Amino acid sequence: MNLKIALLPGDGIGPEIVGEAVKVLDAVAKKYGHEFKYEKALVGASAIDATGDPYPEETHQVCLRNDAVLFGAIGDPKYDNNPNAPVRPEQGLLRMRKSLGLFANLRPLAVFDSLAHRSPLKTEIVKGADFLCVRELTGGMYFGRPQGRSEDGNTAYDTCIYTREEIERILELSFKLARGRRKKLTVVDKANVIATSRLWRQIAKEMSPKYPDVEVEFMFVDNAAMQIIQRPTHFDVIVTENLFGDILTDEASVISGSLGMLPSASVGSEVALFEPIHGSYPQAAGKNIANPMATILSAAMLLEHLGLAEEGKAIREAVDKAIEKGIVTEDLANKGEKSYTTSAVGDFVAAAI
Ligand code: IPM
Ligand code: MG
Repeated sequence: MNLKIALLPGDGIGPEIVGEAVKVLDAVAKKYGHEFKYEKALVGASAIDATGDPYPEETHQVCLRNDAVLFGAIGDPKYDNNPNAPVRPEQGLLRMRKSLGLFANLRPLAVFDSLAHRSPLKTEIVKGADFLCVRELTGGMYFGRPQGRSEDGNTAYDTCIYTREEIERILELSFKLARGRRKKLTVVDKANVIATSRLWRQIAKEMSPKYPDVEVEFMFVDNAAMQIIQRPTHFDVIVTENLFGDILTDEASVISGSLGMLPSASVGSEVALFEPIHGSYPQAAGKNIANPMATILSAAMLLEHLGLAEEGKAIREAVDKAIEKGIVTEDLANKGEKSYTTSAVGDFVAAAI
């Protein structure tokens, strides 16, 4: 198969981890007789530095003309500490999601048995946890207008808006994903307080009879935050709106033992995008210490999304092998044991393909 993949390394450790994922993709292409072609583009703070725009039109075109996008991370401390910066890297990410129609962000959380002891939770609680968070990605408070400040600067406002169409399409996808898993869907909302949540709940109830094989439950977001910690094995597929999903997926990600292990996919009407859940980790940039596994696993999701299931599995197995053999970066190494560099881990996984 010939595949064209857009590479958007972004900021911080982005270029290093995307580089390792490309190594692994090349190994897959060689082994299975495919041809993967890459096209690089700028996004985030590095794009602001080069062009003044965190998501330049050229980058948008590169995304559109490729079969899928592999994205690293964005963010730079010089913007985090300056609330008055006129352009921010995050604006590029939001614009990219919206303009590519990426309305669903899929964040799978699975606890590797061999890493369960690294979880901040007790091993017996996390062992076997395996769920998928489906986060709505292009609606809600992130995009609702009006948003801003009063003239005197002393009042600020955001708007949370959801239309039936936006809710239906994300719920439809979630029901279908639940169907392909353990057939349980948890709809997370705050229907006891906010109007958008009540519309979500109403529509989920309307749609549920179409998926009689899927068991639906409703959970308030504050309770869900607690249940994810207390009984992570309870969940199969969780679906929720943009802001709740942002918060809950960060919470869920640490359960696995390392944020450095978790991939994600953003899908919608246009080209799909694959990225690690963690951020740009600027303190580690250029040091060859960051964990490349989440990006390598994102590449596996990318191949699976494009129909290359066996190839995706080969990547997952190579990652498992690296973990088993202790070929891991410092975030995963046991106390007193040797850890490996970003590129050494990438080399091992590529060779194991
Ligand atoms: C994420 C990130 C982004 C978000 C930021 C960087 C804008 O936290 O992908 O979860 O809030 O969506
Ligand atoms: Mg987030």
